[in-house]
Amino acid sequence: MEDAPSRIGQDLADLVLGIDHVGVAVANLDEAVRRFEALLGLRVVHAERNDEQGVVEAMLARPEGTEGQTQLQLLAPLGSDSPVARFLDRRGPGLQHLAVRVRDIDRATAVLTDRGVRLIYDSPRTGTRGSRINFVHPTDAGGVLIELVEHPHS
Ligand code: CO
Repeated sequence: MEDAPSRIGQDLADLVLGIDHVGVAVANLDEAVRRFEALLGLRVVHAERNDEQGVVEAMLARPEGTEGQTQLQLLAPLGSDSPVARFLDRRGPGLQHLAVRVRDIDRATAVLTDRGVRLIYDSPRTGTRGSRINFVHPTDAGGVLIELVEHPHS
């Protein structure tokens, strides 16, 4: 008998490169940036507005360089129908998702779908810095919303 789960686990070990960032939902982006800069000594290394995701966001990291660093993503909603707005309504500000960097999001999502894991989108959408992203449904991930991120250069 084939050991399917461990074979799939091996596939994912080749595809998952590490923890990319942790997403925190905040009501006010400027206020949250000031708070986390002061609290952790991090700096904003990137900021953008993503209308598709309904957020304005800032990525924070150590000031001397971002290469390979796990970053902190602060997300504030653009409107009341944004998923982040719904999260804030239900749970208030706080940890919202865990993002893993993947080598090939199409392959990673195919492996997961094969395994019966549900993804939020049928196909990847555009995330931070032109990355391609999708989310694993928290019901299939121990209650954790997991974002898969493929960076343009990876
Ligand atoms: Co994210």
